[in-house]
Amino acid sequence: MNRPQDGLRQRHKNKSIIESAISSTSKKFQSLSLKTKCLFVLLAFSLLVAYIIMLWHQVSNRLREFTYIQADTCPACYGSSICLPLFRGDAHFTGTLSRIRSFDYLNSKNFHYGKLNGKDVVLKKLVADDVLKDLDDKICRSARRIPGCDVARVVVKADLVSQVRQHELQVDHLRGVNDMFYCPSRRLFDRLLKHYLEKYTYETTFFYAVDKIQILITAMISSEPLMLQTFPASAGWPFPSYIGACGRFVLLENCGESLQNFHQAPLQKRYDLAYQVMKIANFLTENPSNFSLYWTSLKPSDFVVDQNGHVKFVDLKNIVVVDREEYNEVANTGKPKIFEAMFTECENVCPPTPTMELCNHLSSDWNIYLACRYVLSEHATDPAMKGGLLHDMSRGALDDWDMRFLIKECTSPTTKGGRVKSIHRLLHTLDSLRNGKEQHPVNI
Ligand SMILES: Nc1ncnc2c1ncn2[C@@H]1O[C@H](COP(=O)(O)OP(=O)(O)OP(=O)(O)O)[C@@H](O)[C@H]1O
Ligand SMILES: *[C@@H]1O[C@H](CO)[C@@H](O)[C@H](O)[C@H]1NC(C)=O
Repeated sequence: MNRPQDGLRQRHKNKSIIESAISSTSKKFQSLSLKTKCLFVLLAFSLLVAYIIMLWHQVSNRLREFTYIQADTCPACYGSSICLPLFRGDAHFTGTLSRIRSFDYLNSKNFHYGKLNGKDVVLKKLVADDVLKDLDDKICRSARRIPGCDVARVVVKADLVSQVRQHELQVDHLRGVNDMFYCPSRRLFDRLLKHYLEKYTYETTFFYAVDKIQILITAMISSEPLMLQTFPASAGWPFPSYIGACGRFVLLENCGESLQNFHQAPLQKRYDLAYQVMKIANFLTENPSNFSLYWTSLKPSDFVVDQNGHVKFVDLKNIVVVDREEYNEVANTGKPKIFEAMFTECENVCPPTPTMELCNHLSSDWNIYLACRYVLSEHATDPAMKGGLLHDMSRGALDDWDMRFLIKECTSPTTKGGRVKSIHRLLHTLDSLRNGKEQHPVNI
């Protein structure tokens, strides 16, 4: 039989057990000697202090800490241009997870949002901690020390850097260390040195051993900071501004929200974003610098959109730089000047980027192919970009503007040179659509 009073009685009983426990403890406490009582109070107090210190340690601004920033690894680091403001406390993390020290274990990519003097920035270590650890061990071994050695002191003695330490830094020292230097030219190398912001001293144009070591080690970890300095946003490149580096952190302008988040944005907005993505694809291939920057991989989240709606490309580590002026020198070999990307149906495993082909031709439609295929078209493989950025185009766009055909031509062209032929019409059409011209156009 169900008796509601039972539960009530039980709870009453529990309560009295607790009460009696408390009163017996307090009685026991009162019966203790004064000395023991004091000891107890002291213990409780120090526990509280320890707890507060622990909490404070968790949320204190660790960007001010030399060892957290890994400034103690320099010159085996990215630079030190921004160290002073960091140590002064001008920068702090803003992400909830980033602010708590212990949560760094969850942030394996070491990517943080933050502020520097009120300006929105991103702070990144560029690679995971174990990658940096492996590099440090490699440096130690290369200097015949045991892993865990003092990298900053030992790196100058490493065989790894002996070439650049003893000689002038040359393009061959960097050849092949990352995508940026897959097929480097003297001109690319000179451009890097000219734009390099992390020199130890600006009094001379001379590159000291520490400068050369720092460039080599940075290149071994990631081409990203070197790309951002060599092709600066201030000169019109569609990338985040490079603010500076300290130890194993780089600070970049926060360029906004990932393109993925615009999958369901109003159609006219997406025409505008698609237009800008295609403009970037085109610009990276053909621009006044005579360097072609080709993507070696592309996903929609590599683009971000700032508050003014401007699209920037943020994944600089996956770019190979081809010097078009190098080609001119070896031209007239009878080979075609333009390399045309091949479309292949592939779900998970797609053919690798034909980097060598990109290096050996004057030009290529490769960027246009990647942007059309992996961002705009229904072949977009990213689950967050299902059906592509333009997944639900209007009747007007499909019928009057022939958008289905244009995207098809751009992804898998039906004729030779179809992609390059159709890109200007695609750009013109997207430009019209983003300006709200959905009506039947005069035949173009
Ligand atoms: N400067 C930036 N401003 C705003 N958002 C950025 C910026 N840089 C990167 N992001 C965003 O943060 C994400 C992670 O950046 P990160 O540089 O760690 O990429 P990643 O290591 O290449 O990771 P993944 O390979 O998954 O893209 C990017 O996909 C991008 O959406
Ligand atoms: C790029 O090449 C063109 C034509 O060859 C040349 O006129 C121009 O000066 C070059 N630009 C740069 C930045 O070298």
